[in-house]
Amino acid sequence: MAIQNMQEAFVHELKDIYYAEKQIVKALPKMAKKAQNQELRAAFQEHLEQSKEHIQRIEQVFEALGKTPRGEKCEGINGIIEEGEKLLEEQVDESVRDAMLIGAAQRVEHYEIAVYGTLCTWAEMMDLDGLDLLKEILAEEKETDKKLTKLAKEVINVEATVEAEE
Ligand SMILES: [Fe+2]
Ligand SMILES: [Fe+2]
Repeated sequence: MAIQNMQEAFVHELKDIYYAEKQIVKALPKMAKKAQNQELRAAFQEHLEQSKEHIQRIEQVFEALGKTPRGEKCEGINGIIEEGEKLLEEQVDESVRDAMLIGAAQRVEHYEIAVYGTLCTWAEMMDLDGLDLLKEILAEEKETDKKLTKLAKEVINVEATVEAEE
């Protein structure tokens, strides 16, 4: 597909993140299931619901541009999710599993923050409809990332860290 102008480039990015959000909605329940810490599990579940809303908001942005919502396969997010899923299949000691789950989840959040950041900048410069919706999503992704950092500090078992070093 030839991309000939900034508006088409914008739609291309939108398709990328639409696909990514759908993959994330499939992955989050598995991560929630593996989480031991109740707060972490709740955070994954809450973000699952938010991510479903993100999909709806992206659909609204497509519609505001007069486009049919459509995803485009994104190898970037597939790789990030695949790595996280491999981790879930591996024998990871319980003392470190939650910390590693958070690491995998934050990779996903940072991917999203990158794409939504680009979309917001472009939408603002081109004065496109949908900017407010994209800004709302970006704020939620950043909030989730912060929450995960806070949880990491709570779940990391320092004794396990010390033992591993011996
Ligand atoms: Fe999202
Ligand atoms: Fe997210």
